[in-house]
Order: sequence, then structure tokens, then C-alpha cells
Amino acid sequence: MPATRPTAFFDPGSGLAVLSTPHSCYAVRIGTDGSPRHHYWGTPLDLAELSGLPPAVSPADSSFEADAAADELAPQTGARFGPAGLQVRFADGTRGAQWRFTGHTVDGGELRLHLSDRHYPLAADLCYRVRAGSDVIERWTELTHTGGPADGPITVDRLDSASWTAPRLADYRLSHLVGGWNSEFQLQRDRLPIAETVLTSRRGITSHHANPWLAVDDGTATEEHGEVWSTALAWSGSWRITVHRDPVGRTTWTGGFGHEGLHWTLRPGEALTTPVFAGLYTPHGFGAASRAWHDHIRGHVLPQPRRDRPVVYNSWEATHFDIDLAGQFRLAELAARLGTELFVLDDGWFGARSSDRAGLGDWSPRREAFPDGLRPLADHVHRLGMDFGVWVEPEMVNADSDLFRAHPEWVLHAPTREATELRNQLVLNFAHPEVEAWAQLTLDRLVRENGVDWLKWDANRAFTDVGWAGHPDPDRLWIDHTRAVHRIMDRLRDDHPSLRIEACAGGGGRVDLGMLARTDQAWTSDNTDPVDRIGIQHGYSQLFPAQTMAAWVTDCPNAATGRTTPLRFRFHVAMAGALGLGGDLARWSSEELREAADLVARYKAIRPLVQHGHQHRLTGQDGVSAVHYAADDDTAHALLVWRPTTRFGHRPAALRLPALDPDARYLDVDSGRTHSGTTLRHCGIDLPLPAGDYASCLIRLARLD
Ligand code: GLA
Repeated sequence: MPATRPTAFFDPGSGLAVLSTPHSCYAVRIGTDGSPRHHYWGTPLDLAELSGLPPAVSPADSSFEADAAADELAPQTGARFGPAGLQVRFADGTRGAQWRFTGHTVDGGELRLHLSDRHYPLAADLCYRVRAGSDVIERWTELTHTGGPADGPITVDRLDSASWTAPRLADYRLSHLVGGWNSEFQLQRDRLPIAETVLTSRRGITSHHANPWLAVDDGTATEEHGEVWSTALAWSGSWRITVHRDPVGRTTWTGGFGHEGLHWTLRPGEALTTPVFAGLYTPHGFGAASRAWHDHIRGHVLPQPRRDRPVVYNSWEATHFDIDLAGQFRLAELAARLGTELFVLDDGWFGARSSDRAGLGDWSPRREAFPDGLRPLADHVHRLGMDFGVWVEPEMVNADSDLFRAHPEWVLHAPTREATELRNQLVLNFAHPEVEAWAQLTLDRLVRENGVDWLKWDANRAFTDVGWAGHPDPDRLWIDHTRAVHRIMDRLRDDHPSLRIEACAGGGGRVDLGMLARTDQAWTSDNTDPVDRIGIQHGYSQLFPAQTMAAWVTDCPNAATGRTTPLRFRFHVAMAGALGLGGDLARWSSEELREAADLVARYKAIRPLVQHGHQHRLTGQDGVSAVHYAADDDTAHALLVWRPTTRFGHRPAALRLPALDPDARYLDVDSGRTHSGTTLRHCGIDLPLPAGDYASCLIRLARLD
């Protein structure tokens, strides 16, 4: 039943709830015990075909239970022995929910299954949404205490957004993203063990170490071929996803906000709503899965997807804390001459912030650096034809700051524990309404009074010693802090419609669908070494589109790795995302400045393809890798090709371009040669790579008709 428009419906006859997207279908069956059970997720099927499918039971489940298909959200009762998606405790100590299905509602592409506990005053909605033109199924849960004061509170130990089930496959492989500071988004692709595999962040931010995205396949999928089921959680705080492969052929995973050991109290009348956990099925390999995610993020997540991301200059690596007005003026002038469109003043402009030991929290300009405030710099940047951006880290405070001296009670702390400082800073409790109000006002004033067009919103450390003295339900802050961050960003955007926000957390420590719903791009990593970046960007692109991937060209030797690479190679790697410059331009030779200006212009020429086209990741021979960006209508193509190291006797082999139309002819815009699509798909294109290490090239193709 290929659906041109996504649909959601419930069929009372079969008891099936069905979500149809253009190229996939998802079905849920109400189990004999009233619990929604997974029925099907894959290629489109019609209702008759879906009704004819046997229940998706696993032989590993209890053979005594009548209905042992995987739960849509396992409620911790009955013969269920896998990870629970919902864990609750009632006032009398009883655990788990025993559901009765009470009905459904459908509203356009949104379907809700209503459940209530058979004995206790607890209700849940399992929510599903499909959107126009997208194969992504969005899921979340709403839990409500429906009782009165006499029922007492209900303790929620776990509330996942959704549980997902892959069909029975010959084998299972898990793809996910791991890493650390300076090495985010490393793609890990391994056979899934017969075990419970936990992917999690306990850090209060999404984390550098794991990202809440994963993909499951049978071990044979490639970039171009094979069925892939993947999911991504739209949450920017702590999270947990538990993947469970049982011994006889079933893999499920359940995920949501919060890590283990937290609990929240639900009082009579209160509700708890989870973030969205989105899922995508594609039969055409990892590349198609990524492109479908990119389309979904552009179509339904990003606030302003059609707006070009500007070429940024950021002065952090050039000046660090050594900032003064004259130096920033000079950098802004040089940057403008190179064609940059946005100048961002990074850390060090405020309070007593002459190092990372002081000043965080005091968001007024540092007098020694900016005696007349930020306006003179903002005006100068605007006169140069660029937008003006400012770095902030609103959730953090140095102990050596006026803010901390005035409000020591605003930081996350347990009164009986020593506060752990990381990068000499503490975390403010944004769950506290006073702190949220302060942050909103401070940022609003900063933007309003200084003509700020862009905020780079950083968060350089993880949560520790998390306490909220005197609060009856202190674990709430793990959720409410993140919600406050989201809310402040949303309000800033509402109040300043042309304001753009860049997500940053010590590099790429907080990039997720929740963040991208209110930011324009993300700082991918503090590691700007182009060789390392190829791997980081490869991982990033599994889920996130290139227009959100901030990538700077910086100085050599690289600050993170000490490696020296040609300017052109650094550019060609950074041009695969939202290009920026981050070097000390005052030290660049006139030859380097000329080359940089030329490469910025070349980037602008391919920007529509990089930022709004379709991305194909390519792997060549002998260490060659590339990304190919194709226009929607196939008229134009750009390829960025990299070969970090060379080997004697290994001329780079031609690179095959499987995304091209075999029936078309293409002009290589720079060489003037023409090729048939079939030749380029099957024999490849010759790579004009220079000799030596760190070789790279940009190839542009135009379709001839
Ligand atoms: C983090 C960011 C950097 C820079 C510094 C400033 O590390 O990722 O880009 O802004 O903070 O302190």
C-alpha cells in the first residue's frame, strides 16, 4: 500500500493501528491482555496483508503466555523479562502497570492509543505521528496520574518514549556513534551480542561519548543496499537506550530521557510527557537511511531549513582569551575581505573572563577589552557587511564570578558533598524558575542591546553532584533543566525572529534532534584537524544534514593533533559542511589569504548543493573517501574528495558515482570533459588529486540535456 500521503488509522476489526509513510509501514496490535504489541515495521503492506501476519512472538518468550509479542512500551508486569520501558511504583508499593486499552484518537497523521491501569489511577497515551513526505515515524508517551489526593503520588522510575522491534533477521548488527571530546561521532558498526546493550549519557547533556541514534541491520547492508531500521531520540540531556537481542531471533530496543536510578514523582492530576523517539525504515542501505533522516530534519525539525548557513569567521582559535577591540576589528576586516558573512566573538568578552578561571555568569562586556561595550564591534562588523555573533555559556558559572557570589544556591549541588569543578566551572540549575528567568532576561538583553544576530550557545561540562537542596522531587531537574534550555532558545527565537543559534557543548557534546529543533547548526568538534574531521563528519552525517555541521578551517600545526596540512585540504574537508574560518588571519600570508578568498567563493558556488542537496558518502580505493552532493533535480553535483596519505605506485583509481542518472550526460565544469552517467556510475570519474599526502579536490558536474 505505497502511500503518497502519510496516514494513521486504527482498524477496530483487526485491532491494528497502522502508520503508513511513502516507503514504509508500521503496525501495532492490541494484545489479548490490553497491552499494545508490536506487529510490523518494514516495506508497505495493506491492511489485509498486515492482518494475515502472525503475531511477532519470539520463541524465547515464556511459552506459557498466550500473547508474547514485543511490547510497544513494556510495562513491567506479567511474564516480561526484558528491559521495561515503563517502571512505576504506586503508593502501596505495587510495581508496574497492567493496561486496559480504552480507545484511540486519530488527528491527521497523529494517532494515540489510550491506556489505563486496571486497578490504579494511571493512564498513558502511546503517541505516533507521521508527516508529509517523510518516512520517519515519531513516537512519544504521555503518562497521567488520574487519581485524587487519597491515591497518593505515583513514583516513575522509568518512562521511555518508545520501544522499537526489528523483524526476525538471520543476524543483527548495530551501528551507533561513540567518541569523546575532540573525537565525537565515531561510527561503530558491530555484530549485536545476544545480550542487553546499553547506550547512555549520564552527563546531563547528550554527550560526546554516545549519541542517541542507532541503526540495526542483518549484517549485510551497505551504503547502497540492504534493509536498515534506525532511530533517534530528540533529547538534549541524559538518556538511555537499551538494545536487547534474545537468543532466538528478536531484537528490540527501548529508550528515553534520563539514565538509570532517577525517579520522578507524579502527583494527582500531573502528567509527564517524553521527548520524541523517531524511527525510520529504509530498504536501500545506510546512505538512503541518512538521506531520509536529512530530509526529515530539514522538513520537520530545523526552524529555518531553507535559509543558507553563512560562512562564519570565529576568533576563538586566533585569540583565545587575549581579546581586545583593535584585534577583533582587524580580524573582522580580514574576514570580511575573504567573503565571510558572519563574525563571531567567542569566549573571553565578558565579566572578569581573562582566563577560564573567572567571569562565567557575568554577561556584561569586559571593561579592559571593550570599554564602550560590544556596540562598537557590532557596528563595525555590520558596516563590513557581516552579521554579528557572540559566544555564551548561559548554564555555567565560575565560582569566581559576581553571579555565584550573589547566588551560590543556584548551582547544582548536594549540601553535604564537595562540588566538583570541571574546567573551573559549576552548572546552574536551570530547572529553578528564578534561574531560568534570569537567563532569559540576560540573553534577551544581550541580543537586544548589542544588535546580536547569532548566539553560539556553549555548555562545556557535564553535570555532577546533582542535588537540589530542599526540593521534594530533586531528580526532576534532569528533565526540567533541559526543558528550560529548550524553552529559553524557543523564546529567544520568537522574540528575535532573525536571531540564529548555534548549538555547542565543548565541541559536539549536545547535538540531537531536540537541539536542532531550535538551533540552526551545531559546532561539530573542537578538533579541527581535517584528517580527524573526515571520520567525525562521516559519523555526524549518519543522522544530521551537512547544513547543520559547522566546520572551520584553522591554523597549522593543528591545535588538537599538531598535524600540518595544506590550506586547500583543510578547506575541502570543511566545505563538506557549513564552512567557517577559525585561524589567526593576521598571520596568514597574502598568498594564503588569496587562496582562502578563492576557496570561500568556490564554497558559495556549491553551497546550495552542500546545504540543500542530497548527500552520498563514497569510499574509493587506496584511502580515498568523498562526499557527493546532488541537486534535487540532478542538474548540478559537487564532489569533495580526500586522500590523506599516498602510497608509492598507487595512482588513485577512478571513483564510481552511483547516484548519477545512467541515461544522462554530465559536464565536468572545471575540466570541460563530458561523461555519460553510465560511465560515471560503473567506471567512475578520474580524480585530479595532486601528488603527495593530504591530497584533495573539488569536482563539479552539470547535467547536460
Ligand atoms: C568550547 C567550544 C569552543 C570555544 C571554547 C571557548 O570548547 O567548543 O569552540 O568556544 O569552548 O571556551
